[in-house]
Amino acid sequence: MSTYQLDTSTSRANPTPQPMRRLTVPAIRRRKDGGVTEQPIVMLTAYTARQAQLLDEHCDLLLVGDSLGQVIYGLPSTIPVTLEMMEAHAAAVVRGSWHAVVVVDMPFGSYEASPEQAFAAAARLLKASGAAAVKLEGGEAMAPTVRFLVERGIPVMGHVGLTPQAVNVLGGYGARGRSDAEAAKIAGDAQALDEAGAFAIVVEGVMEPIAVAVTEATACPVIGIGASARCDGQVLVTEDMLGLFERVPRFVKRYADLQGTVSEAVARYAAEVRERSFPGPETTYRPPE
Ligand code: KIV
Repeated sequence: MSTYQLDTSTSRANPTPQPMRRLTVPAIRRRKDGGVTEQPIVMLTAYTARQAQLLDEHCDLLLVGDSLGQVIYGLPSTIPVTLEMMEAHAAAVVRGSWHAVVVVDMPFGSYEASPEQAFAAAARLLKASGAAAVKLEGGEAMAPTVRFLVERGIPVMGHVGLTPQAVNVLGGYGARGRSDAEAAKIAGDAQALDEAGAFAIVVEGVMEPIAVAVTEATACPVIGIGASARCDGQVLVTEDMLGLFERVPRFVKRYADLQGTVSEAVARYAAEVRERSFPGPETTYRPPE
């Protein structure tokens, strides 16, 4: 074996290390104590190492969401997302973070058939990426699977209300819980996941009173998206809140206009290339005179 090793790492892959300890799943669970969460939980989606590096110090949880299907791959929904995609992006996010708990979404078709199928897929995701937990969609029907995973060492975050993987059953992405029956179903779903041992539950796209009732009735933290400020925490898709898309759901607040910033920068670059003013002397290698 050669003793010579080529160092192929680049400064892009090795940003300044952050002297922060990584949070743990039990620490997140303990944030809600006796029904009260004094310090709301901050979660954002992340799909790449650089994105994780930028978000990490501000977040308690980074979610490698299957929304990467639309955001990264331009797919029409989350349905076609594969385990391979989730593995690769989750590993990148773990490499790019030091502090937040990394949770990875289980893609459609990888967990619904049986608890055993879910265990195999979840174990594969955690082994390949180093993420600490998985998230899966569905309520009461998924509770036995959540219990099965938790009892075997896999922390699970639940997801109820608007569950995008069920778009073909729901018929769209509209807010849920408009009827009493739907509201009762969402509350029952959250309760079943809580009792099955989920360490947190995402409640997405529901009428505010349902989000508040679920938060009050659930022992584990409830993380809202399109839900209520009274949830135990909040999550958004990072590209949405940074203003990278023209169209976002009503519940998204844009904290920046990156689409405008990118467009303006690229227009300047294109103009300078076309008029041959880039690269200039300061960005050109020249032999010493
Ligand atoms: O996939 C995702 O990004 C999500 C969040 C919207 C909660 O599930």
